Amino acid sequence: MNKTILCIGAGYVGGPTMAVIADNCPDYKVIVVDINAERIAAWQSDTLPIYEPGLQEVVERARGKNLFFSTDVVAGIKEADIIFVSVNTPTKTFGAGAGKAANLQYWEKTARDIIEHAESDKIVIEKSTLPVRTAEAMHRILQSNTKGLNFDIISNPEFMAEGTAVDDLEKPGRVLIGAMEDESGQKALETVANIYRNWVPEEKIKKTNVWSSELTKLVSNAMLAQRISSVNSISALCEKTDANILEVSSAMGMDPRIGSKFLNASVGFGGSCFKKDILNLVYLCEFHGLPEVAAYWEQVVLMNDYQEERFVRNISNHMFNTVAGKKIAIFGFAFKADTGDTRESPAIHVSKLLLEERAVLAIHDPQALKYAKLDLADCEGDISYEVDPYKAAEGAHAIAILTEWKEFRDLDFEKLYASMEKPAFIFDGRNLLDHQKVFEIGFNVYPLGQKALSHL
Ligand code: NAD
Ligand code: UGA
Repeated sequence: MNKTILCIGAGYVGGPTMAVIADNCPDYKVIVVDINAERIAAWQSDTLPIYEPGLQEVVERARGKNLFFSTDVVAGIKEADIIFVSVNTPTKTFGAGAGKAANLQYWEKTARDIIEHAESDKIVIEKSTLPVRTAEAMHRILQSNTKGLNFDIISNPEFMAEGTAVDDLEKPGRVLIGAMEDESGQKALETVANIYRNWVPEEKIKKTNVWSSELTKLVSNAMLAQRISSVNSISALCEKTDANILEVSSAMGMDPRIGSKFLNASVGFGGSCFKKDILNLVYLCEFHGLPEVAAYWEQVVLMNDYQEERFVRNISNHMFNTVAGKKIAIFGFAFKADTGDTRESPAIHVSKLLLEERAVLAIHDPQALKYAKLDLADCEGDISYEVDPYKAAEGAHAIAILTEWKEFRDLDFEKLYASMEKPAFIFDGRNLLDHQKVFEIGFNVYPLGQKALSHL
């Protein structure tokens, strides 16, 4: 074996990232550790802890050969030459910066574990998304060791998206590696680049200083989310003017300077990172005395809240100004298609607002029902969770599409319509369906940023 790689944190990033590294780098031993024993057991089993297309195959190819999952963090630290840290960095809920700043306690805990148990020099890699200049603090903590050990800190943020993680990791748009500018830092950078060189073309490996790398990750997510909020804001204007958001987005996206991707209007963006990373950026700007810059980026999150609230207001308005006691079938609870992840899913906010209006909810999702139940566990109201979409729609007044699962397109809408209360409504929060077709079946159809198709 060439070198031993350890990854601390076996979550949505640590697990898939290390599986792809192990699969492409047979000369490296890759160990993934986590304090969550249940998660580790799942990584060792046939039912992985996360749903991600293609992941099972990659894990099965490498597991037991050069990919190992374990709860023994200490043994992993002792054995590894290179340590990726991929623990969670959620928004702080207490103290200074509560609601915006990143909570770095899990990150710092791993740094302290490393100092305590390391017996040799290590390269420590920030895989988690962190505020700019975190590496500086971490370097200080690590170099404070009394064993005379040297630690190099590298920033190597992850850009994969859920649902396409395996593809994104196999064919990354870029691998960003930021290092300190001294000789030791540059040597560490090359060591990390050598891992990726096993399958990533040289021109995709982007080397920067460590602060640029940390900041690039936050700004990349902020820019992506900003595109969605921009297009979502215009979807509201389209609904007032009979312009069509699909036409506007596609015509606008033909300009190569704008580009066609990531311009789909939606009920709102979700996922564990966009909101958290933008709020982190906002906090950093405030901290550094840049209130105008902070306000600019905060608006991206505020627009997202507005879009979710606007969606619920539209439902209520079109259903004769009340949804109290009316059953609404929620189709899709995951924050996007092809994942079972519901973190910050717009479906959570939308469902809570509908419950406040006393709607009766029947929630269906092909992968996310387990988490949907947990997300709404504290909510009062009438909620059921249905594996069968037809059961969810039975006796409902409306279907609200909140996730763009392709299989929703293939449902038998005649059958759904027949079992629903009339007038029956569809609110398509993802512009997923063939609206004309469902309108002709009898539904009153309310897409996003497009003319409603109503029989009323
Ligand atoms: P996650 O919550 O799924 O996984 C983090 C794991 O770290 C958990 O299983 C937790 O038990 C473990 N952990 C926490 N403290 C630990 C410790 N001291 N020792 C051992 N294990 C510990 O989080 P995630 O979605 O994988 O995200 C991890 C980081 O990557 C975050 O900073 C996130 O912003 C970033 N990121 C996430 C994505 C994504 O698609 N989810 C993409 C790019 C970047
Ligand atoms: C996003 C980024 O795309 C990744 O590059 C990044 O690594 C990751 O965050 C992270 O740091 O966690 P992810 O959140 O997994 O990935 O998924 P996206 O495909 O970006 O979707 C985010 C949200 O935006 C979803 O709710 C999706 O439905 C929504 N979206 C996306 C839209 O509403 N419209 C679009 O055009 C695209």
